[in-house]
Amino acid sequence: MKLTNRFRMPALALLSGALLVTGVTGVTGVTGVTGVAVQPASAHNPSLRVLAERAGVRIGTAVDMAALADDRTYRRTTAREFDSVTAENVMKWESVEPQRGVYDWKPADDLVRYARAHGQVVRGHTLVWHSQLPTWLTTGVADGSIGATELRGILRDHITTEVKRYKGKIQQWDVVNEVFEEDGSLRNSIWLQQLGPSYIADAFRWAHAADPRAKPFLNDYNVEGVNAKSTAYYDLAKRLRAQGVPVQGFGIQGHLAIQYGFPGRVAENLARFEALGMQTAFTEVDVRMILPVDEAKSVTQAPYFRRLLDACLGARSCKSFTVWGYTDRYSWVPGVFEGQGAATPMDEEYGRKPAYGELREGLAAGR
Ligand code: G3I
Repeated sequence: MKLTNRFRMPALALLSGALLVTGVTGVTGVTGVTGVAVQPASAHNPSLRVLAERAGVRIGTAVDMAALADDRTYRRTTAREFDSVTAENVMKWESVEPQRGVYDWKPADDLVRYARAHGQVVRGHTLVWHSQLPTWLTTGVADGSIGATELRGILRDHITTEVKRYKGKIQQWDVVNEVFEEDGSLRNSIWLQQLGPSYIADAFRWAHAADPRAKPFLNDYNVEGVNAKSTAYYDLAKRLRAQGVPVQGFGIQGHLAIQYGFPGRVAENLARFEALGMQTAFTEVDVRMILPVDEAKSVTQAPYFRRLLDACLGARSCKSFTVWGYTDRYSWVPGVFEGQGAATPMDEEYGRKPAYGELREGLAAGR
């Protein structure tokens, strides 16, 4: 996986983003950098999910299953604040089929059960990706022991098996994840190399056949605004839908960074997918910064969350807004971007940051 250029905004967006960010409305409901400790939800202190329900949108989070097992505060906060959950890792191929034909559904089953117990819906993530593939698959392709015809059958079986297992329990499936490069060319993954571009349409057909009620989504990062990559998705979705391929949603991950500025033309981007008759969603929102965190950076960060949320609330097609973890205690960011972090709405002690206040105010303001 290439990490150096992941989730970076081009220089132009950086410049316009910096200008935009200085023009955002003041941060209200700010709680201070270290945050305010978790309090039980009440009529005076409504949770995000209570406000989201009134606003007619799902508020979601990625869930770290190890934290869910080990950390009581994490379990309670996940239940209190969110009405949608996404498996951060445990529905990915390497997790569900670590050896060929040997499945491990337990962690994914646990999440689905937790969601049901707490009245939450589940976003399925993810069926076709170039990353977190099982070793048996990547080595088999690399050494030639798995050829193209067999690989296509393996992909079909993987999608069908996983989608059927959770049939009726998944609201949106990220069928195809991160298939374009920044310039709008198709990513040179093993799927493209071995199967050619038709694997995308095939994947959507197989997923939809296995659970016609789950919305099949495209999903990627750096596609918040109008740019070469999001336009490649728009063109692909338009073409596939004209051919009757069941592509029904566009997922915008939303991995932003305050040092790169806020992307331009987000509402316009959502509107063009909506005009195709598709659903949209923010699926993995976080906003990282160069550490150490300080008050100014936290205050700068907050409206990034708010502006993405407002874009969602401003689009009828946008039914859910998911953060990629809500506490810095378990965020993936520092492990991947050295020296960066503090990317979520709560600090490591579950204290609410200004970003949490902005999410709450945005949801309270509604659509
Ligand atoms: O499961 C192994 C474990 O057995 C081993 O002991 C441990 C040692 O490092 O690694 C564990 O795997 C880690 C895995 O997360 C599960 O915790 C990997 O090292 C680690 O690289 C992996 O990172 C995940 C990353 O996707 C992989 O690309 C992050 O947690 C996860 O947040 C991140 O999520 C992606 C979305 O799926 C797609 N969009 C981008 C987003 C952020 O990169």
